[in-house]
Amino acid sequence: MSDQRSSLLASEWLLYCRPGLESDLAAELADRIATAGITIDVEIDELPHGGYVRVIAPEGQALNDLQRQVSLASLVFARQSLVALPPLNELERSDRLAPILDQLDAAGWSAEEVVFEAPDTNEGKALTSLAKALERPLNSQLKRRKVLRRRAGARRLHVFMTSGHSLQLGLSFRGNRSEHPNGIQRLRFPHGAPSRSTLKLEEAWHQFLPAERWDEVLAPGSTAADLGAAPGGWSWQLVNKGMQVYAIDNGPMDKGLMRSGMVEHLQEDGLKWLPPWPLDWLVCDMVERPSRVIDTIAMWLIGGHCRFTVFNLKLPMKRRWQEVAECLSLLRQLLDDAGIRYQLRCRQLYHDREEVTVFVEALR
Ligand SMILES: C[S@@+](CC[C@H](N)C(=O)[O-])C[C@H]1O[C@@H](n2cnc3c(N)ncnc32)[C@H](O)[C@@H]1O
Repeated sequence: MSDQRSSLLASEWLLYCRPGLESDLAAELADRIATAGITIDVEIDELPHGGYVRVIAPEGQALNDLQRQVSLASLVFARQSLVALPPLNELERSDRLAPILDQLDAAGWSAEEVVFEAPDTNEGKALTSLAKALERPLNSQLKRRKVLRRRAGARRLHVFMTSGHSLQLGLSFRGNRSEHPNGIQRLRFPHGAPSRSTLKLEEAWHQFLPAERWDEVLAPGSTAADLGAAPGGWSWQLVNKGMQVYAIDNGPMDKGLMRSGMVEHLQEDGLKWLPPWPLDWLVCDMVERPSRVIDTIAMWLIGGHCRFTVFNLKLPMKRRWQEVAECLSLLRQLLDDAGIRYQLRCRQLYHDREEVTVFVEALR
């Protein structure tokens, strides 16, 4: 990536997150770094509502190994993960490009493409036109200096703009990054879906199921239960895939969805109800205490009542990472004790608010 003469190291690890959840990401990173066994004494810097967190190594130390070791897929609160150079502050309006080019030269970086990004905040959105203005001149300078090349190990250069006069340069690597701009998977609201929540389940499928598995795992004729289903945004997604759905909720279901004939609405307690026979899917968006949701999910998986599950944990509390960590560790312990083999992933999705989404597949 960099030649022997490069003097500037990637001494920072830059991660994007939902604005307001910086302290949760910072707490998660602190835990993960503590168990990663690295000897570098890092500082974790979070700007409240900034939409990103920086992990900073002392001068002369690089964080490439740490960024690789703690993969993006294994993190809950991060949307994007980059190795980064120290921020460039106080950029002159008259020449913002020169300091960028100098820093890249010092680092000896090369990449196959460059993207302009900004925090997912109002301030970040206001930087779009400035990014557009810089894009073309920077691209041509980078090509001329061979920073941008046809072949550079699929590396991508990120220009992360934090204001009109400050930015940070980061680099991402194939297999350990989000391919979406700003780490955000945007989805179009499907016509006829009963609630905006519908996008959470759709995003979860994109996030946790590789495209080549969709036909098998989301096959027409599959069966599902939706706990806390009303008004029916998640059930709508299941029906849209051709599944038969038990919708469990005391609240009313959307009339259009019920006309599909694919949904049986049962006014039961989702913490107690079990299906008459094993189903393919369990989805759950109940507004309930996270530990109760975990007990319910464990009951389903251990009893063999479903093979796949996507469920949300609502996090109205302050210390969200601690709550998530405790819940996931409880679920793992219950499944391990019961001898269940499984894969488990958890993410704070773009369409989630103060909540996270968990995917578990029971392996046969
Ligand atoms: C966020 S809403 C679900 C939205 C739904 N996923 C959608 O896409 O339209 C939460 C639902 O959980 C239901 N709920 C909460 N506790 C429940 C329980 N113990 N049993 C069944 N439903 C419950 C509430 O009635 C409410 O309708």
